[in-house]
Amino acid sequence: MKVFILGVSGAVGRLLADDLSERGDAVSGLVRRDEQKFELSKRGVHASVGQLADMSVDSLGSMLRGVDAVVYTARSNGGARDVTAAIDGEGVIRALEATTLAGVHRFTLVSVMPEAGRDQDLSDDEGFYFAVKKLVDVTVSQSDLDWLILRPSMLIDRPGIGSVSLGPAQPHDEIAREDVAATLAALLHEPRIRRQILELTQGSTPIAFAVSANLP
Ligand SMILES: NC(=O)c1ccc[n+]([C@@H]2O[C@H](COP(=O)([O-])OP(=O)(O)OC[C@H]3O[C@@H](n4cnc5c(N)ncnc54)[C@H](OP(=O)(O)O)[C@@H]3O)[C@@H](O)[C@H]2O)c1
Repeated sequence: MKVFILGVSGAVGRLLADDLSERGDAVSGLVRRDEQKFELSKRGVHASVGQLADMSVDSLGSMLRGVDAVVYTARSNGGARDVTAAIDGEGVIRALEATTLAGVHRFTLVSVMPEAGRDQDLSDDEGFYFAVKKLVDVTVSQSDLDWLILRPSMLIDRPGIGSVSLGPAQPHDEIAREDVAATLAALLHEPRIRRQILELTQGSTPIAFAVSANLP
């Protein structure tokens, strides 16, 4: 399978690229800097260099042509509103349009649980980030593509345990980025799981079983 990852230089993106490569998939993606392209090429990932915020649907679409699935795991990190709007909002919509233009049928978005910021003293910019993420989920979920939205709980950097809780609604807790990447890889290898919003958190179900339990 050929998979293009937007956000391939990020923490989840890199782990996903490694998981897919180990499965024998061909991984490509978009990065912002030449040194990221060089570093990823040593790990077998073909990266193109470009600015997601400035890229047209046409130029993004030409990068996506010929792949089997597109994954969007880029994020602005809840900073300034214009960057959030560009990366967490318009960037996703343009990627969705570019996926359609390129004739690719599968689009997977890494989103957030809408209640992730609840009971926290969020700044206005952080509140804006969660609002943009939710609105984008609405748009993606209305697309004609074989879309999939994965909403992990709080991401942490610890070794994965290979088991998770995955389903339409999960409590907001935490999960290792390695387990998110492994779940994404397993979901990409299960094309029957499509047009679903799945929430993901730490749990005790082995990832392969957690994925098959969500088959329609
Ligand atoms: N943090 C959490 O607890 C949490 C919880 C649930 C869901 N999520 C979601 O999980 C996903 C992956 O998170 P992560 O930890 O892997 O994020 P990350 O390590 O911060 O990676 C973010 C990616 O987005 C790219 N990016 C950021 N700004 C950009 C810009 N202006 N133009 C182009 N690319 C840009 C980064 O590129 P560079 O390498 O060039 O910076 C990087 O590839 C995100 O969608 C996030 O919203 C996060």
